[in-house]
Amino acid sequence: MSKQLTSTKTKITGFVIVVAIIAAIGGALFGYDIGVISGAILFITQQFHLASTAEEITTSAVLIGAIIGAMFGGFAADRFGRRNSIIFAAIIFIVGTAISVIARDDFVLVMGRVTVGISIGVASFIVPMYISEVAPPHVRGMMTSLNQLAITIGILLAYGVDYLFSASGNWRAMFAAGLILGIMLLVGMIFMPFSPRWLLSKRRTQEAQKELQKLRGTSDVKAEIQETEEEIESEKGSGGLKALEAPALRMPLIIGIGLAILQQVTGVNTVIYYAPTIFEEAGFKSATASIAATVGLGIVNVVMTIVAIFLIDRLGRRPLLLISLAGMVFGLVALGADFIFSRGSTAAGGAFGTVAVISMMIFVASFAIGMGPIFWLLISEIYPLNARGTAMCVATVANWGSNFLIAVTFLSLVSVLGQGGTFLLYAAVGVFAWFFTLRLVPETKGKTLEEIQAHWQSGKHPLEMGKKAESKVVLG
Ligand code: BGC
Repeated sequence: MSKQLTSTKTKITGFVIVVAIIAAIGGALFGYDIGVISGAILFITQQFHLASTAEEITTSAVLIGAIIGAMFGGFAADRFGRRNSIIFAAIIFIVGTAISVIARDDFVLVMGRVTVGISIGVASFIVPMYISEVAPPHVRGMMTSLNQLAITIGILLAYGVDYLFSASGNWRAMFAAGLILGIMLLVGMIFMPFSPRWLLSKRRTQEAQKELQKLRGTSDVKAEIQETEEEIESEKGSGGLKALEAPALRMPLIIGIGLAILQQVTGVNTVIYYAPTIFEEAGFKSATASIAATVGLGIVNVVMTIVAIFLIDRLGRRPLLLISLAGMVFGLVALGADFIFSRGSTAAGGAFGTVAVISMMIFVASFAIGMGPIFWLLISEIYPLNARGTAMCVATVANWGSNFLIAVTFLSLVSVLGQGGTFLLYAAVGVFAWFFTLRLVPETKGKTLEEIQAHWQSGKHPLEMGKKAESKVVLG
């Protein structure tokens, strides 16, 4: 490990920016499809006369598909490469959407939605993985978080499209609009390069060199190639599930899976899926007012993700995560208390509704500056190349699995604990997440992926990673 690139600032070329933006359209598919169902389901339920169980299955079909997709995505990423897997995900997305649009009964519709879910499950982690592998280290956080920005834009687009077609009740058009994103991703990715790191792991050195030269805008990429090759050499072992047994992987696995679960069980998607219902419960008189407030939340989500993108490589991952979780807990406690103390009061629709809106905005804003983007970023940074596909896949399955769990338990939790109790429960989990982050989550800001691996190999505690960041000397 002598002549290393380490913290040298690699040039940010126009090409690498285009690559990151095109790949991030995969994130927009993710956001669009978790957002679109909230409006579409109202009309589907009417047309197909769905009972409540069928309605729940139709709503969560994407999540079931995503769990399946995430399971196979790791294999695809390692075997066929990141770029081809994203192309594959775009094709499945287009097929699944087409099935949903033409479905004549609920069974076919659910099949279509599961297919769409499979594509989203694959894309949800291969997109950040791909971007993190092509990005220069000093802006890796920023570029990889474009994926989260695209997720939030996708959600907002879906709210907008739902609103547009809600007068006519045309749910088929709501789904069909997503095709535009799928086609953009498919066509765009055909022109994108392979990940040089993946090529090197397949010993395709010449091609890796060519792709890297294009991405870095210079012919002098020897040091970066050598650094990555050294990393591959030092790992040697095979990929697949076996790779996860390495002792050096234990800690990064705990961190990745832990954050995957905590990102979901603090309740963000109850807000994404049920915001209009929560607003109505909080005293908003008309459906239109509730929808407008929901769009407001979508906008806050996008704007604060943009703020995160600018802070992530400056402030670092850890401080942002800790601020984020503290804000989320504050928002949840305020929301919970509002439901407990204002329920049935004459203020309903007045102070009750206002506090509900403000606390939900605080919650979503706080999620967006940390927990949203940083979970996906960290799992694309902290695993060694030979296990990256498999380990990210395990964390992603844990994320979608917890998303599903929260979706199917939220309404039952509310009937047992009430809205107030449910949000306070999420707040308690948020406090746990804060301590988990404080004790275990490392600072990866400015480190090359190779340095991060060297750290795990050394067996040092995760928190020591950040301490070394500033003192690293560039050799050669
Ligand atoms: C989460 C999603 C969530 C979205 C909201 C993502 O990071 O993984 O479950 O819906 O953020 O912006």
